[in-house]
Amino acid sequence: MILCATESVDGTRAVAAAVAGLVAEGDLLVLVGDLGAGKTAFTQGFARALGVDEPVTSPTFTLANRYRGSMTVNHLDAYRVEALAEAEDLAIPELLEDGVTLVEWGDNILPALPAAHLEVRITLGEGDDDRMLELNPAGSSWQARSRSLAESLDEWIVR
Ligand SMILES: Nc1ncnc2c1ncn2[C@@H]1O[C@H](COP(=O)(O)OP(=O)(O)O)[C@@H](O)[C@H]1O
Ligand SMILES: [Mg+2]
Repeated sequence: MILCATESVDGTRAVAAAVAGLVAEGDLLVLVGDLGAGKTAFTQGFARALGVDEPVTSPTFTLANRYRGSMTVNHLDAYRVEALAEAEDLAIPELLEDGVTLVEWGDNILPALPAAHLEVRITLGEGDDDRMLELNPAGSSWQARSRSLAESLDEWIVR
């Protein structure tokens, strides 16, 4: 587990940009955290770092957005997905074939997601703009990148 602290929305976007530097086609990131934690902000920094120019907005109503950058970025929101059958409608295995996929509220549909992913768990800190980001690599491909992740995130790591 890698624990980072940010003190602003731009800090969270910068952490995400650092993570984006280590992704490959087919990667999945599961974003966990309450409303307003910063899951969409994380995705914004992540997509921008991959060359996405258009504004990244919350996919709460569209369920899935797709952006074109140096890599395709699929941005999903599973907040309203109540049944796993609905999760299957999101066609995540197909999305994963093209680019990198980030799923907000991914913990809602964990059984429908590949076991290999990077979990990013965002919680509120003491001040209004403080956030803790806990990164949990699951599966060999992310575990193999743990050290690189830690190096890239050095400036935000608290332990
Ligand atoms: N350190 C921080 N990291 C992320 N967002 C922050 C931070 N500090 C303040 N914010 C604010 O918190 C809100 C996060 O919203 P959003 O990214 O949409 O959350 P979520 O997608 O998790 O519901 C934004 O209004 C953002 O400006
Ligand atoms: Mg959101």
